[in-house]
Amino acid sequence: MADSIQIDHFLSKEERYKSLVPQIKALTANESNLVANLANIAAALKYSMGFFWVGFYRVDANAQELVLGPFQGPIACTRNALGKGVCGTAWKENKTIVVPDVHQFPGHIACSSESQSEIVVPVASKGTVHLVLDIDSNQLNDFDKTDEEYLGELSEYISTNLL
Ligand code: SME
Repeated sequence: MADSIQIDHFLSKEERYKSLVPQIKALTANESNLVANLANIAAALKYSMGFFWVGFYRVDANAQELVLGPFQGPIACTRNALGKGVCGTAWKENKTIVVPDVHQFPGHIACSSESQSEIVVPVASKGTVHLVLDIDSNQLNDFDKTDEEYLGELSEYISTNLL
């Protein structure tokens, strides 16, 4: 099971998501531990899609901060405040944010100088954000409507089935 995610890297981005998302659902459906599931989702996205950094930040409601959760890629910032950076803004506004060029996003928090573009997708239940999924690319303009669509589907799945 552990190495069972199969993705053909010659496929288009959409074809890879179409193949990957059902495999992620199957991989996590019978496991109740959230951290274990988020860790496998981060690994599946990183190695199937070839992103530079993939990870989750979890809401610490008392501190009003996001705290680093399971991720794949270089070490990253541990805490981000509500409304700060791309992640803190996606959390505050409860909406997906696509940043074609991180250098143009006011207040972007640079965890790695290699990051060039980014997408952050909140995972919310009944209007309350519990996590954000953050993906960074080392290429400009790497995220589009296809990423929004399939990562949005993944977010729905996580909030409905894994939280
Ligand atoms: N760039 C993010 C911080 C997290 S790292 O990219 C992993 C932000 O501006 O919120």
